[in-house]
Amino acid sequence: MPGLSGYDGRRRVARAMTPERLDRLRGHFITFEGGEGSGKSTHAAALAQHLTSLGIDVVLTREPGGSTGAEIIRHIILSGIAKPLGAETEAILFAAARDDHVRTVILPALEAGSWVVCDRFIDSTRVYQGVLGQVDPRLILGLERVTVGPAKPDLTFILDVPAKIGLARATARRGKDLADRFEAESIAYHESLRKAYSVLAEKEPERCIVIDGRAPREIVAERIWAAVERKFNPGQARVVERAVP
Ligand code: TYD
Repeated sequence: MPGLSGYDGRRRVARAMTPERLDRLRGHFITFEGGEGSGKSTHAAALAQHLTSLGIDVVLTREPGGSTGAEIIRHIILSGIAKPLGAETEAILFAAARDDHVRTVILPALEAGSWVVCDRFIDSTRVYQGVLGQVDPRLILGLERVTVGPAKPDLTFILDVPAKIGLARATARRGKDLADRFEAESIAYHESLRKAYSVLAEKEPERCIVIDGRAPREIVAERIWAAVERKFNPGQARVVERAVP
């Protein structure tokens, strides 16, 4: 089957990449996390655009989805038909989607030296399925090890908004009757999500930066950019590049 052999080919390349080798070759990997209506997608897109304007190669992507196989699984999960199978099964489905996304999109982009900006990634599984769904942390970590490998995010923005505000934004965006599997959960569920994200951020302060998503959009974008500059200095990289004859 031609599709399948193409997939296997990409898989071999990705698996052969050791963390050390990827470190030398790769671009930077930035993820956006947060509850519903927190502004992740807007700010992921704005950051990608800003980086592009500096001449940096950027792949903007999202989860669940981001690759052909993962988009099929996204449809299954968000329709809610897998919900009766339980949070463990959902975690495995998210992992299956992530595996395809990492091997076919994220790793190849990083290996090519592009930056990758991804709307949701492993922390969504840790929080939604791990904390809220009470899936055994050993399973969550095991799935992460298999699917993510060396493609660990370098920097993660957690956009923080009270659940009530976030859900109101999400409803205004798409109308009340069309809530997906997770948007349809209660306010209490979404407040617990928010708390779980803040606990996660405290555990990994080097990687995770919590940003107040209630601030005006431009201020949020400025804070995100300031953190990217502090960590990677992309503007400086461009100046140095230009200075070299
Ligand atoms: P999406 O339509 O992409 O919404 P959002 O704008 O909130 O990102 O829906 C993704 C939903 O899937 C969201 O409610 C969070 C959930 N999710 C998980 O539960 N686990 C995961 O690993 C991922 C990536 C997403």
